[in-house]
Amino acid sequence: MNACRRMTGLFQLLLLVSATVASEPSCPACSKYDYEEKILERLIRMEFAFEKLGEKVDLNLNNIKDEKERLHAVVDVMKDKQEQAERKLVSLMEEVERNQTSTLEKVVTDSKNTLDHMNAASNNNQDQIVTPLVYFNARSPQTSSLSEGEVIVYKTVNTNQGNGYSSTTGKFTAPARGFYLLLMHTCTPTNAHANLHIVKEGSVLMASIHYDKDQYTCSSSQAFVQLNVEESVWVKCSSGGSSVKLYDDSFLWTSFGGALIHN
Ligand SMILES: *[C@@H]1O[C@H](CO)[C@@H](O)[C@H](O)[C@H]1NC(C)=O
Repeated sequence: MNACRRMTGLFQLLLLVSATVASEPSCPACSKYDYEEKILERLIRMEFAFEKLGEKVDLNLNNIKDEKERLHAVVDVMKDKQEQAERKLVSLMEEVERNQTSTLEKVVTDSKNTLDHMNAASNNNQDQIVTPLVYFNARSPQTSSLSEGEVIVYKTVNTNQGNGYSSTTGKFTAPARGFYLLLMHTCTPTNAHANLHIVKEGSVLMASIHYDKDQYTCSSSQAFVQLNVEESVWVKCSSGGSSVKLYDDSFLWTSFGGALIHN
């Protein structure tokens, strides 16, 4: 096709040249065909050059074809790699989703367990939070003659939860505000009186009198009282004298105690 077109081009050029030659003035020093010969020689050189060019073009076309095939191969490999990467990504995303779901389930279960524990602990502690643990009990007062207004100091402390009771003053000072139950247990020797009051800041909450002329005896008294923090209660002798005495040994205990029962 290219060669054919080239030949047609050459032929047309030849016709043009012959037409021109016809009008050329003749050269006396040259052969009769000298001019034509030169033209022909040029034509042949041109044809040769054209052929070379054609070969070069063919070579380049082949190179381009090769390059195209090579590129196709490269593109195919890249496509494969991309598909592999996409499949990998999809499976990774599925795994992440599964992991997230199981992590979420674990968090939910853990939270539920924690909540259950907290609830149990809260229920356990609720009473203590509402009502702090406060109670006390002490015995061994002085047992010789008591005088009127004397504070009975129970020197041996059995219990003192909350540290409200002082074995120095004999007074219980509320460490927490609330409703208290107070207990007074009183024993007397034969022929001795015990005239005692339970008081709050000097005001009588409960009064008792105790006397047996033939026996050692004991009696108990109680008082309910509302105390603010720092308010005190104690036992005092309401009427003194040489026969006003208390009794306390390892068998008979004269004691004073109490507990916070509600705040
Ligand atoms: C999913 O969980 C497993 C086990 O805990 C872990 O080995 C893996 O790396 C996790 N996968 C991803 C994508 O996080």
